[in-house]
Amino acid sequence: IERTLSIIKPDATRRNLTGRINAKFEEAGLRIIAQKRIRLTKEQAEQFYAVHRGRPFFAELTEFMASGPVVVQVLEGENAILKNREVMGATNPKDAAPGTIRAEFAESVGENSVHGSDAPETAAQEIAFFFAGIELVG
Ligand code: GTP
Ligand code: MG
Repeated sequence: IERTLSIIKPDATRRNLTGRINAKFEEAGLRIIAQKRIRLTKEQAEQFYAVHRGRPFFAELTEFMASGPVVVQVLEGENAILKNREVMGATNPKDAAPGTIRAEFAESVGENSVHGSDAPETAAQEIAFFFAGIELVG
Protein backbone atom coordinates (compact mmCIF):
# COMPACT_ATOMS: atom_id res chain seq x y z
CA ILE A 1 0.00 0.00 0.00
CA GLU A 2 1.34 3.40 -1.03
CA ARG A 3 0.65 7.04 -0.18
CA THR A 4 0.88 10.16 -2.32
CA LEU A 5 0.41 13.89 -1.82
CA SER A 6 -2.35 15.55 -3.82
CA ILE A 7 -3.25 19.23 -4.07
CA ILE A 8 -6.51 20.56 -5.45
CA LYS A 9 -5.28 23.86 -6.92
CA PRO A 10 -6.84 27.35 -6.65
CA ASP A 11 -8.52 27.24 -10.10
CA ALA A 12 -10.50 24.19 -8.92
CA THR A 13 -11.40 25.44 -5.42
CA ARG A 14 -12.55 28.72 -7.00
CA ARG A 15 -14.96 26.79 -9.25
CA ASN A 16 -16.21 24.65 -6.32
CA LEU A 17 -14.89 21.38 -7.82
CA THR A 18 -13.42 19.78 -4.69
CA GLY A 19 -16.16 17.18 -4.35
CA ARG A 20 -16.18 16.18 -8.00
CA ILE A 21 -12.40 15.79 -7.99
CA ASN A 22 -12.49 13.76 -4.77
CA ALA A 23 -15.11 11.49 -6.37
CA LYS A 24 -12.63 10.73 -9.18
CA PHE A 25 -10.01 9.66 -6.61
CA GLU A 26 -12.46 7.46 -4.72
CA GLU A 27 -13.86 5.88 -7.90
CA ALA A 28 -10.27 4.92 -8.79
CA GLY A 29 -9.83 3.16 -5.44
CA LEU A 30 -7.76 5.90 -3.81
CA ARG A 31 -8.66 6.60 -0.17
CA ILE A 32 -8.40 10.17 1.18
CA ILE A 33 -6.66 9.53 4.53
CA ALA A 34 -5.89 13.19 5.34
CA GLN A 35 -7.22 16.45 3.96
CA LYS A 36 -7.21 20.17 4.78
CA ARG A 37 -8.00 23.44 3.07
CA ILE A 38 -5.28 26.06 3.44
CA ARG A 39 -4.01 29.20 1.73
CA LEU A 40 -0.32 29.14 0.80
CA THR A 41 1.85 32.22 0.97
CA LYS A 42 4.02 32.93 -2.08
CA GLU A 43 7.04 31.88 0.01
CA GLN A 44 5.44 28.55 0.92
CA ALA A 45 4.53 27.93 -2.74
CA GLU A 46 8.14 28.70 -3.74
CA GLN A 47 9.42 26.27 -1.11
CA PHE A 48 7.00 23.53 -2.19
CA TYR A 49 7.88 23.94 -5.90
CA ALA A 50 11.62 24.60 -5.27
CA VAL A 51 12.50 21.89 -7.84
CA HIS A 52 11.07 24.19 -10.55
CA ARG A 53 13.04 27.28 -9.45
CA GLY A 54 14.74 28.69 -12.57
CA ARG A 55 12.05 27.45 -14.97
CA PRO A 56 10.41 30.21 -17.02
CA PHE A 57 7.00 29.52 -15.47
CA PHE A 58 8.20 29.51 -11.82
CA ALA A 59 6.87 32.97 -10.90
CA GLU A 60 3.54 32.36 -12.64
CA LEU A 61 3.20 28.94 -10.97
CA THR A 62 3.96 30.13 -7.44
CA GLU A 63 1.78 33.25 -7.75
CA PHE A 64 -1.07 31.05 -8.98
CA MET A 65 -0.63 28.54 -6.13
CA ALA A 66 -0.83 31.43 -3.63
CA SER A 67 -3.80 33.07 -5.37
CA GLY A 68 -6.54 31.24 -3.46
CA PRO A 69 -7.34 28.30 -1.23
CA VAL A 70 -5.93 24.86 -1.96
CA VAL A 71 -6.97 21.49 -0.57
CA VAL A 72 -3.95 19.39 0.39
CA GLN A 73 -4.60 15.70 0.86
CA VAL A 74 -2.95 12.33 1.26
CA LEU A 75 -4.25 9.54 -0.98
CA GLU A 76 -3.63 5.91 -0.10
CA GLY A 77 -3.99 2.79 -2.25
CA GLU A 78 -2.21 0.16 -4.33
CA ASN A 79 0.31 2.00 -6.55
CA ALA A 80 -1.21 5.27 -5.34
CA ILE A 81 1.45 7.50 -6.92
CA LEU A 82 1.04 6.13 -10.45
CA LYS A 83 -2.70 5.61 -10.09
CA ASN A 84 -3.18 9.22 -9.00
CA ARG A 85 -1.17 10.49 -11.96
CA GLU A 86 -3.35 8.39 -14.27
CA VAL A 87 -6.52 9.85 -12.73
CA MET A 88 -5.03 13.38 -13.01
CA GLY A 89 -4.11 13.09 -16.69
CA ALA A 90 -1.34 14.86 -18.60
CA THR A 91 0.00 18.22 -17.33
CA ASN A 92 -1.47 20.05 -20.34
CA PRO A 93 -5.24 19.46 -20.47
CA LYS A 94 -5.02 19.41 -24.28
CA ASP A 95 -3.00 16.18 -23.96
CA ALA A 96 -5.01 14.68 -21.09
CA ALA A 97 -6.94 11.47 -21.78
CA PRO A 98 -10.75 11.65 -21.73
CA GLY A 99 -12.24 11.13 -18.29
CA THR A 100 -9.17 12.35 -16.42
CA ILE A 101 -9.43 15.25 -13.96
CA ARG A 102 -7.37 17.57 -16.14
CA ALA A 103 -9.32 16.67 -19.30
CA GLU A 104 -12.60 17.45 -17.55
CA PHE A 105 -11.67 20.38 -15.33
CA ALA A 106 -8.28 22.00 -16.08
CA GLU A 107 -8.29 25.46 -17.65
CA SER A 108 -4.72 25.55 -19.02
CA VAL A 109 -1.25 24.00 -18.59
CA GLY A 110 -0.68 26.37 -15.66
CA GLU A 111 -4.13 26.28 -14.06
CA ASN A 112 -4.50 22.54 -14.24
CA SER A 113 -6.61 21.80 -11.14
CA VAL A 114 -4.44 19.21 -9.38
CA HIS A 115 -0.92 18.34 -8.28
CA GLY A 116 0.30 14.82 -7.56
CA SER A 117 3.66 13.53 -6.30
CA ASP A 118 5.76 11.89 -9.01
CA ALA A 119 7.88 9.31 -7.09
CA PRO A 120 8.11 7.63 -3.66
CA GLU A 121 10.85 9.99 -2.44
CA THR A 122 8.97 13.15 -3.45
CA ALA A 123 5.71 11.73 -2.06
CA ALA A 124 7.31 11.24 1.37
CA GLN A 125 8.85 14.75 1.28
CA GLU A 126 5.64 16.40 0.10
CA ILE A 127 3.44 14.61 2.67
CA ALA A 128 5.82 15.74 5.44
CA PHE A 129 5.70 19.31 4.07
CA PHE A 130 1.98 19.57 4.89
CA PHE A 131 1.10 16.89 7.46
CA ALA A 132 2.26 15.55 10.81
CA GLY A 133 2.17 11.78 11.20
CA ILE A 134 -0.69 12.02 13.67
CA GLU A 135 -2.90 13.57 10.94
CA LEU A 136 -2.63 10.54 8.61
CA VAL A 137 -5.46 8.16 9.44
CA GLY A 138 -5.22 5.16 7.14
P1 GTP B 1 2.32 18.73 -10.76
O1 GTP B 1 1.56 17.54 -10.32
O2 GTP B 1 1.62 20.03 -10.43
O3 GTP B 1 3.76 18.70 -10.34
O4 GTP B 1 2.25 18.66 -12.36
P2 GTP B 1 3.10 17.77 -13.34
O5 GTP B 1 4.00 16.84 -12.59
O6 GTP B 1 2.13 17.17 -14.30
O7 GTP B 1 3.94 18.87 -14.09
P3 GTP B 1 5.39 19.47 -13.73
O8 GTP B 1 5.90 18.92 -12.45
O9 GTP B 1 6.23 19.35 -14.96
O10 GTP B 1 5.04 21.01 -13.55
C1 GTP B 1 4.54 21.47 -12.31
C2 GTP B 1 3.44 22.46 -12.56
O11 GTP B 1 3.97 23.62 -13.16
C3 GTP B 1 2.33 22.01 -13.53
O12 GTP B 1 1.33 21.26 -12.93
C4 GTP B 1 1.79 23.33 -14.00
O13 GTP B 1 0.87 23.86 -13.05
C5 GTP B 1 3.02 24.20 -14.02
N1 GTP B 1 3.57 24.26 -15.38
C6 GTP B 1 4.26 23.30 -16.04
N2 GTP B 1 4.59 23.71 -17.28
C7 GTP B 1 4.09 24.97 -17.38
C8 GTP B 1 4.09 25.95 -18.41
O14 GTP B 1 4.62 25.76 -19.50
N3 GTP B 1 3.45 27.14 -18.12
C9 GTP B 1 2.85 27.39 -16.91
N4 GTP B 1 2.27 28.57 -16.70
N5 GTP B 1 2.85 26.49 -15.94
C10 GTP B 1 3.43 25.31 -16.16
MG1 MG C 1 5.32 17.46 -11.04
